Amino acid sequence: VTTGLKGFHTIRRATLADATEIARLTGDLGYPAEANVIARRLETLLVRPDHFVVVAAARENETKLLGWIAAEARAILVAAPRVEIMGLVVDRAARRSGVGKRLVAAAEDWAAERGVRDVVVRSNILRAESHRFYEGVGYRREKSQHVYLKKL
Ligand SMILES: CC(C)(COP(=O)(O)OP(=O)(O)OC[C@H]1O[C@@H](n2cnc3c(N)ncnc32)[C@H](O)[C@@H]1OP(=O)(O)O)[C@@H](O)C(=O)NCCC(=O)NCCS
Repeated sequence: VTTGLKGFHTIRRATLADATEIARLTGDLGYPAEANVIARRLETLLVRPDHFVVVAAARENETKLLGWIAAEARAILVAAPRVEIMGLVVDRAARRSGVGKRLVAAAEDWAAERGVRDVVVRSNILRAESHRFYEGVGYRREKSQHVYLKKL
């Protein structure tokens, strides 16, 4: 439990019961999602030791969430193992109160516990606030890349 400018918040592992709130916040990321779809994905991820999903709530036992982060530990052929932040969003009303920073710190602690030293995140060039955020919490821009997709 930590103190932010907007009061106490608590950081804990996600559970299936968080699916509705995670879906609500995910809409803010530009990926609108149905709660039942998020619930199915959570079900898959929560049992996997290489995945980490953590949420922030204003108080313990509160169902309303202020934010969530998802990260994955990845084994890579051409580089050292790394933890990649796969998603992060903080409720608009709770931004700039340290919630994002605490969520990233939780993912970094998880990486450190696994002996992983590199934490990376890919952020859309359109998300200006996220670039200022990552730089504000100690990340340095490594490169820019194009993302290609083929629908099968
Ligand atoms: C990016 C995001 C997660 C940041 O969450 P947050 O809880 O507001 O961030 P914090 O309050 O922990 O900010 C920590 C530091 O980052 C920097 N920072 C964060 N947002 C910033 C902004 N909009 N402009 C400038 N600096 C910013 C500041 O240095 C801040 O410290 P300070 O408030 O003491 O100055 C949030 O803005 C968000 O959900 N954005 C939309 C989704 C998104 O872009 N996610 C990332 C996808 S990879």
